[in-house]
Amino acid sequence: MKTRYFDNAATSFPKPPAVLDAMTRYMLECGAPSRGSHAPAREAAVLVRRCRQRIATLVGLSSPDHVVFGLNTSDGLNLAVKGVYAASRRQRGASAPLHAVATAIEHNSVLRPLHALRACDPNFAFTIVPVDPSTGLVDPSDVAAAVRPGETILICVNHASNVTGVLQDMDAIGAACDRFGVGGSSDDGALMLVDAAQSLGHVPVSMTSARIDLLAFPGHKGLLGPTGTGGLCIRPGVERRLDTVREGGTGNLSEQLKHPAALPEKYEPGSHNSLGIVGLSEGVAWILDRGIDAIQDHEIALMERFLHALAPDATGRCDAAPGLRLLGSADVSRRVGVFTFQHDELAPQEVAAILESSFGVLTRAGLHCAPLAHEAIARDIGADGSARTPGGVRLSLGPFLTSGDVDHAAAALRSICLEHRSAALA
Ligand SMILES: Cc1ncc(COP(=O)(O)O)c(C=O)c1O
Repeated sequence: MKTRYFDNAATSFPKPPAVLDAMTRYMLECGAPSRGSHAPAREAAVLVRRCRQRIATLVGLSSPDHVVFGLNTSDGLNLAVKGVYAASRRQRGASAPLHAVATAIEHNSVLRPLHALRACDPNFAFTIVPVDPSTGLVDPSDVAAAVRPGETILICVNHASNVTGVLQDMDAIGAACDRFGVGGSSDDGALMLVDAAQSLGHVPVSMTSARIDLLAFPGHKGLLGPTGTGGLCIRPGVERRLDTVREGGTGNLSEQLKHPAALPEKYEPGSHNSLGIVGLSEGVAWILDRGIDAIQDHEIALMERFLHALAPDATGRCDAAPGLRLLGSADVSRRVGVFTFQHDELAPQEVAAILESSFGVLTRAGLHCAPLAHEAIARDIGADGSARTPGGVRLSLGPFLTSGDVDHAAAALRSICLEHRSAALA
């Protein structure tokens, strides 16, 4: 049976052939990368810098040195949350109240660092802004209302939900929070941190127009690079308010014990994952070559086809697949291709298992590391009033899926639901 990969929100598959070619070439020809002044080291430095430049171009950042590499999105988010906290504590003193704002659709990679800070610092607090359960959208004025002037150091917003696929309106959130200093309008106000894990590589993202100060990204999802890549884009100037969270060797200024202050070394101690970065660079080149608008158009066409086949109504109930309900909005102009469904009687894991074993459709079931998003949006009671297994089954699109693939996935969901209903009625 042919398998069809619908788990691109976890990590994208397949990768463009150029990604694999570049990684193979790198292993064969640049075996001694990173530090030193010999030819393979110089070549590695050029390739890593090229990747920075490509990502800077994609997000509209003037300085490639402000693209900082780490392990993944979580690593970038940890640096942002803990680095801003550390700098604020250092600058304002131990007893100053510090505060962050986050939304109910954040991933655990934002929620857990915030929770960890609160657990060890009684003078740190954070506020969770609710989302509209029917659309999955945050109201920008709610975000602004949660800000505590003089205390709030960070506003964290998940751009595209990894549960509903719904895109938050970053321009409107930035505008609503402008008076608190986001996007450089003040030197000591709040900083805007955007989790672009599900949006970068899928939709246009501009750090300048949306007043974004810090943007955490995965290399291995929409940017089509290998796992173990990702990082943080830093608006020039924000580094003054972002301390390091680890120090070490940088290959320069080795005579001093103080970690270098210049970027990107400030946030990149130790040898890079240059093998991964070289692959990532080709993934980003693939996106720049095609153009982000063309990639988004393809995804919108697939979304429309998929939704047409399942026919969700305004509440998400799918007319074509009895018992199935889509979480969040179906408006394709305000979402990416991430769809989570609940079934009235079947557990998400059961649906995912049938999708794989009977139809070759690979998905992900569960809470998707976003418990608050599920709590805010999901309906936990089945049609018969019984409690349901929490979470949902998620199908997520990528640029290599075709209209035939989405037709197959929609038909598989319809078939599972119709068969379940016939069995229940028999
Ligand atoms: C919205 C969101 N944020 C953060 C992450 C964490 O990404 P990573 O695995 O790159 O650390 C994910 C992963 O699925 C995500 O969907």
